[in-house]
Amino acid sequence: MQRKLFATVSLLALITGLSGVLMAQTKTTVFGTDHDIASLGGGCKGCHVAHQSSAKGEMLLWTQALPTTATFGVYTTPTMNTTPTEVGGNYSASNLPTGAKMYTVLCLSCHDGITTPSVIGAADGAAIANPTSSDGLKNDHPVNLVYNPTADAGLESLATVQATNVKLYTSGTDQTMQCASCHNVHDNTIPKFLRVANSNAKAGLCGSCHK
Ligand code: HEC
Ligand code: HEC
Ligand code: HEC
Ligand code: HEC
Repeated sequence: MQRKLFATVSLLALITGLSGVLMAQTKTTVFGTDHDIASLGGGCKGCHVAHQSSAKGEMLLWTQALPTTATFGVYTTPTMNTTPTEVGGNYSASNLPTGAKMYTVLCLSCHDGITTPSVIGAADGAAIANPTSSDGLKNDHPVNLVYNPTADAGLESLATVQATNVKLYTSGTDQTMQCASCHNVHDNTIPKFLRVANSNAKAGLCGSCHK
């Protein structure tokens, strides 16, 4: 009897775990959120279009302008064990961001407070990465860096992190951290488009990676 109960509980845990993963894959959850942007055509069209005349479309069929500011800077302190790599670079349709940092640059299309069209309201973090009015990315959680638990023993193992709902992005043989590691641009079920709630618990966002 007890064994049967245990089996049922394990199965339930598995299903709940799986549905968490499946939810994270769903894209239509974007409808009705702040990322369903009417002024840009609404729904998926705000960010992706099926056919495009410029090379921007090589990146996830991207339709928005790319950040044209040269640098955003990187977060560095004496206690950092890894060095983030600059994500800026005056991008254009013929000078596309390469590698996993694309997953950060695409957010900056709208969230750098500079690139047109400017669709972000003043109250909503317009300046997350604004290099002139908010210190670029120097004062934000580091992004575009290798997730390296060997360099920093305070980080959970790769396997542990990959079993949570945060997401690491592959770059060659490395796993990297980008804006979309913490945020799911397509899903606002957890407010602020977070992949894991920023709760005061080990199972919360920060505890997913930090021991
Ligand atoms: C506000 C901008 C935005 C909107 C609107 C949007 N996306 Fe995305 N999409 C992104 C960004 C940024 C990424 C890359 C980050 C990531 O991995 O999720 C992405 C990645 C993707 C990917 C590839 C990654 C994966 O997980 O497979 C697919 C497929 C996709 N989007 C489909 C859609 C569809 C379908 C819609 C409409 C239902 C949609 N998106 C609406 C911004 C958007
Ligand atoms: C096509 C433009 C566009 C792109 C691309 C985009 N966003 Fe947004 N985002 C918006 C708009 C518009 C809002 C709503 C802001 C407002 O109401 O002023 C928003 C709001 C947000 C919010 C705040 C939501 C809230 O409830 O306050 C977060 C967090 C966010 N975006 C993260 C991201 C991340 C991370 C990416 C990349 C993975 C991204 N966005 C890509 C346009 C975009
Ligand atoms: C380590 C996880 C993490 C990373 C990486 C991250 N964010 Fe966030 N972000 C958060 C959390 C948590 C919040 C909720 C507000 C808070 O606690 O500061 C947030 C809030 C936001 C907001 C809403 C602004 C507001 O004042 O509430 C925007 C927009 C945003 N993030 C965009 C981005 C962009 C763009 C990137 C990449 C340059 C990024 N985030 C990287 C965790 C992250
Ligand atoms: C996806 C994994 C991940 C998540 C989620 C995450 N972090 Fe980090 N964080 C890292 C990595 C990787 C570093 C770089 C560590 C290093 O190289 O020393 C880092 C660095 C930091 C640093 C800078 C450390 C220093 O030495 O200057 C702080 C502070 C920090 N994180 C706090 C947070 C907080 C607070 C949250 C939750 C809002 C959070 N992190 C969520 C992976 C993560």
